[in-house]
Amino acid sequence: LHPPSLLHPAPTMAAVTAAAVSTSAAAAVTKASPSPAHCFLPCPPRTRAAHQRGLLLRAQVSTTDAAAVAAAPAKKEKISKKHDEGVVTNKYRPKEPYVGKCLLNTKITADDAPGETWHMVFSTEGEIPYREGQSIGVIADGVDKNGKPHKLRLYSIASSALGDFGDSKTVSLCVKRLVYTNDQGEIVKGVCSNFLCDLKPGSDVKITGPVGKEMLMPKDPNANIIMLATGTGIAPFRSFLWKMFFEKYDDYKFNGLAWLFLGVPTSSSLLYKEEFDKMKAKAPENFRVDYAVSREQTNAQGEKMYIQTRMAEYKEELWELLKKDHTYVYMCGLKGMEKGIDDIMVSLAAKDGIDWADYKKQLKKGEQWNVEVY
Ligand code: FAD
Ligand code: A2P
Repeated sequence: LHPPSLLHPAPTMAAVTAAAVSTSAAAAVTKASPSPAHCFLPCPPRTRAAHQRGLLLRAQVSTTDAAAVAAAPAKKEKISKKHDEGVVTNKYRPKEPYVGKCLLNTKITADDAPGETWHMVFSTEGEIPYREGQSIGVIADGVDKNGKPHKLRLYSIASSALGDFGDSKTVSLCVKRLVYTNDQGEIVKGVCSNFLCDLKPGSDVKITGPVGKEMLMPKDPNANIIMLATGTGIAPFRSFLWKMFFEKYDDYKFNGLAWLFLGVPTSSSLLYKEEFDKMKAKAPENFRVDYAVSREQTNAQGEKMYIQTRMAEYKEELWELLKKDHTYVYMCGLKGMEKGIDDIMVSLAAKDGIDWADYKKQLKKGEQWNVEVY
């Protein structure tokens, strides 16, 4: 294995590629499967037959209490993503976690960024059959202050179900190293995020899950999918977007609109931008991306550019999209973002005489408003 300095020389996904091909485990995958031009990581042609994807059992969600919502446009019945038979949860639990190996671990923020975010790939040998939008648990090595094993922490999966190497045998994460100063002025390092960001290729990692159904993708390949991310909240959307734009399936060809808003503190902390640039070049009609760089940009009023500030620039367009039955909003990242986004929605809905709280309830019921904040 190469020394760690080679694994994170630059904040680009080119660095991820370099790291991928420099680890012996990853190199084995590469040999078996040449990369198509669009892939930043070694991966085989990204195809998957419908029959391999499990039986799809679809349940109807009723939205018959629409009458309760004054002036809100009525919603059609939907196919629920949460009742898909093939979705696996809790296959591995903390008492008997799956032990994977770290195949690569690369810093994807620049050295001068405020904080560090790492992209890492673990081997699963196909034993963790996750879907886009699910999470895994990680149990850090070592014990807590009471001598007990550490509790698991959840992390959103950042790779599509095929994984970064395209063989359905890996799972990837996007992890921010937590470091803060406590009230006593001491520097405290978060247990699991530091364990993960320090993990060297070849090391074991204890994994639980997969878990979560809230962030599963809608089935409709013609959907409008609005993705709202702050920081590492980008993870599930990288997973979605790889499936939409970098992979080929017999039973899924995305032909709707994918619109990503990503909020980060500085341009040196933009995550996966090179990948999104490639997607944009590949599918300009189907992919939009807007960044909110909070410590470098402001709006016309001189206010800090948070994700909701950027969204406000497109508020009429977003509201029109939200009135459509095949528009799905996904939000992931910092807890605080939810209120900021609700605030702009309240005023937009009010213009149409709609009560946002009621309308949101209805959207949630139809799985059109999906939130995972932490
Ligand atoms: P811990 O050792 O658990 O320390 C965290 C604790 O430190 C906090 O609970 C708080 O008490 C304290 N603390 C934190 N900041 C401060 C502060 N500034 N001042 C004072 N005290 C503070 N994280 C990712 O990086 N990427 C992901 O994709 C991701 N996905 C997630 C998905 C879900 C569904 C959930 C619930 C969480 C997700 N997280 C993700 C967060 C992750 O689970 C951990 O919470 C995070 O990595 C911190 O864990 P840790 O063990 O490093 O910190
Ligand atoms: P800032 O840190 O400038 O206040 P990261 O997780 O990498 O720190 O990125 C999170 C991004 O979300 C940062 O740009 C951060 O801005 C921004 N942010 C912080 N609080 C909120 C909030 N309440 N609503 C929306 N974005 C927020």
